[in-house]
Amino acid sequence: MLLELPRRTEIFGSVKIHEMQRVLKIDSGGFTNPRAKDIPFDVIKDVLKRFAIIVPVKDEKIHLLDGVLRAIPFDCTVIVVSNSKREAHDWYKLERNLVKNLHELAQQELIIVHQKDPDLGFALYEAGYDSLLDENSVVRDGKAEGMIIGMLLAKALGKEYIGFADADNYVPGSVREYVIDYAAGFCMAESPYSMVRLHWRYKPKVVADKLYFKKWGRVSETTNKYLNLLMSLHTGFETRILITGNAGEHALTTKLADVLSYSTGYSIEPYHFICLFDNFGPGVTEFVDLDAATAGIEIFQIETLNPHIHEEKGEIHIRNMLLDSLQTIYHSRLCTEYVRDKILEELGDMLEWEEPRQNRIMPSFAGVDALQFEEQLATTAESYARFQRGALEGEEASSSLSTSFEKESTRTI
Ligand code: GDP
Ligand code: CO
Repeated sequence: MLLELPRRTEIFGSVKIHEMQRVLKIDSGGFTNPRAKDIPFDVIKDVLKRFAIIVPVKDEKIHLLDGVLRAIPFDCTVIVVSNSKREAHDWYKLERNLVKNLHELAQQELIIVHQKDPDLGFALYEAGYDSLLDENSVVRDGKAEGMIIGMLLAKALGKEYIGFADADNYVPGSVREYVIDYAAGFCMAESPYSMVRLHWRYKPKVVADKLYFKKWGRVSETTNKYLNLLMSLHTGFETRILITGNAGEHALTTKLADVLSYSTGYSIEPYHFICLFDNFGPGVTEFVDLDAATAGIEIFQIETLNPHIHEEKGEIHIRNMLLDSLQTIYHSRLCTEYVRDKILEELGDMLEWEEPRQNRIMPSFAGVDALQFEEQLATTAESYARFQRGALEGEEASSSLSTSFEKESTRTI
């Protein structure tokens, strides 16, 4: 891949935010130039082998999930965390069959689990990580909640990189590009604590019966504006460097995943920045992780070559996302009276209560024994299925990870 070098980097305490980089060629030929980095495909492939891609899914069209799963590069492990309906028509059963079929056809390593499985709730409780659970000890609804379960599983598998791909993407080829973009970003990273966030080149919409290649969405534009404002007011210099406040498509090193705390539902993405600013930003003296603070936390923002076409979820969804994002910024340590007033003005009648609410924050999962958590799921949870690489047809993995490594070594492809 030929990836543009970042022209500028904003340093904010221990956090380094690189300016947007364009993908100049998805597949390049080894020609280097001073403005771009050539990353050979075998180097990317080597990163993909250490990658888990998590697909959070809730009641999406099965055709879309099918395309997404088939597009994720073979070398990655895929972890599907579903919160789809199980009553009447069991959507989860369809999703699980899809995963099983794909494994039978391609022998890729895939895992699937249902977010509401009571045994998953129990395994989290046993692991001492109960912040995802409701009063019945079942995992709450929410995309972030599903993503955290996926990250714990990736950690159990010993993966170094964790990426996310939404299940509602209409263009499978774009999903393949996203994953390769993630890997290319990590090839540029100097710190083991890094994150790659994608920015769509276009997000096409139908406007007056024609396809219109829109560049910015309302939610991301507003979220980015306020995140940049937090930084600008703090340094005294205006910046617009941050353009990926709501990037659902993002990836991070497992080391960084262990350091972060997470905000519920759709506020997880903007909160990455808030968490980093609050814990590693300028003026922080007591670090939650000294190693990360010393190494620095690098954020890459890559503009994809492919446009992003996904399921339109309607006005209420957009509004909730905006509200969640701005609430997160409103309650950050760096937020000044001035920014708060601006946010209140922006929210206007969207705010149905006195003050923006504090989104629920789930603490770091660094202390969780992920291996034991996976082992317990494998032996107890009905919805959990792990299809390992090179396993014989129809053979579903269960039990411990040691068997998976044995199987991996007998891989036939
Ligand atoms: P948007 O693309 O950011 O506007 O949000 P989407 O509604 O498309 O959600 C992103 C992804 O998260 C999709 O694949 C959804 O199916 C999935 N998702 C949404 N809510 C949940 C949830 O509660 N649990 C899980 N596991 N996935 C969810
Ligand atoms: Co979507």
